[in-house]
Amino acid sequence: MSVKRHPTGYLGEEYQRLVRESLNWELKELQTASEPVCTVDGREVIMLCANNYLNLSTHPKVVKAMLEATEKYGAGAGSDRSIAGNMTVHEELDRHLAKFKRAPASLTYQTGFMANEGLIPQLGGRGDLFVSDELNHGSIIDGVRLTHADRAIFKHKDVEDLARVMNEAEKHKPPYKHIWIFTDGVFSMDGDLAPLPEIAKIAEEHGAGVYVDDAHGEGVLGDGGRGIVSHFHLDHKQVHVEMGTFSKAFGVVGGHITGCEDLRNFAYNKSRTWLLSGGVPPGVATACSAAISVLESEPHHVKKVWENRNYFIKAMQDLGFDTGNSETPIVPVMCGESKKAKDLADFIWKKGFFALPIVYPMVARDKARIRAQLCTKHTREQLDKAVEVFEEGGKKLGLI
Ligand SMILES: Cc1ncc(COP(=O)(O)O)c(C=O)c1O
Repeated sequence: MSVKRHPTGYLGEEYQRLVRESLNWELKELQTASEPVCTVDGREVIMLCANNYLNLSTHPKVVKAMLEATEKYGAGAGSDRSIAGNMTVHEELDRHLAKFKRAPASLTYQTGFMANEGLIPQLGGRGDLFVSDELNHGSIIDGVRLTHADRAIFKHKDVEDLARVMNEAEKHKPPYKHIWIFTDGVFSMDGDLAPLPEIAKIAEEHGAGVYVDDAHGEGVLGDGGRGIVSHFHLDHKQVHVEMGTFSKAFGVVGGHITGCEDLRNFAYNKSRTWLLSGGVPPGVATACSAAISVLESEPHHVKKVWENRNYFIKAMQDLGFDTGNSETPIVPVMCGESKKAKDLADFIWKKGFFALPIVYPMVARDKARIRAQLCTKHTREQLDKAVEVFEEGGKKLGLI
């Protein structure tokens, strides 16, 4: 007799295990636009955990562009870009992004996750080596997992360890044909920056490619928000793939890569996520292009998010909070154990502030934190009130 199976019973069992171990996501519902003052689960709160760093999701020029393009071209692209859905607005967006990044070519994807998962596995195979920072984003990890290349990890931001891995790699027989180094630009849990110039230098010594995921850096770092390559005054001959997303500072949705013309041609011919999935709606592509135009013509947004970030982090540090290694508008408020992070998030939520506790397994067991994210439209009053509430909660929980 065949084994008795229940097709879906284990799904519930697994979910119950997640609940028992407090590892399940409890989804909150955003009932208004993503703005500093918004309604979440029926409660008016100040948003402190959106990726909408420049508040472009509600910028009138971005919204207007989306509406007008939707009226003109319809709600959807009608097909994968590889077949019949490659609209003029997609091509214009690709060219606009390349111009903004001051690079030869860009290719836009449906999401940043799809860019990483589609392109990374194609960059190598048997006889190649992929080297990755231990704290890289899950979409890089998954992209690397899909390849047949050998894999190696270097310690977080540790260029000496990277050099060690690369020197070891040179002993491999037969020699590796291609080596790629993958790193986040801004690490999303800590808000710290990859040592990109040093990584590029090591890569050059070994003839390796450099792939940086700048999802949290663009719109925030570099000249006019051009991202981490611009921030470090590097170019796309030193950093071969600059990957990013339109879902964070650009305020819309979509992923992208930037580099040389060969990279673009290779990427759209080889990335299965690009080839085998629908193109983004024309309204989305046009809104992404409008968001780039806003960055080109209104540089004050980038300046303002930094002013807010610097103001908030100084006030928190003055109170004695440990803000980790933040170098960007991602400011971790370190709490130690998971329970403290959850209790602090709960405390500030009850006082009208929405920020996420980041706990194990997203970070190490003793490195739980609240991840605060600053945006352009936060007012001084909102930030002062946030600091006051963190102070009250931090004292209650013995954090300061
Ligand atoms: C570092 C990093 N890379 C990639 C992504 C994926 O981007 P997208 O939202 O466009 O899929 C994210 C989003 O969380 C991210 O934080």
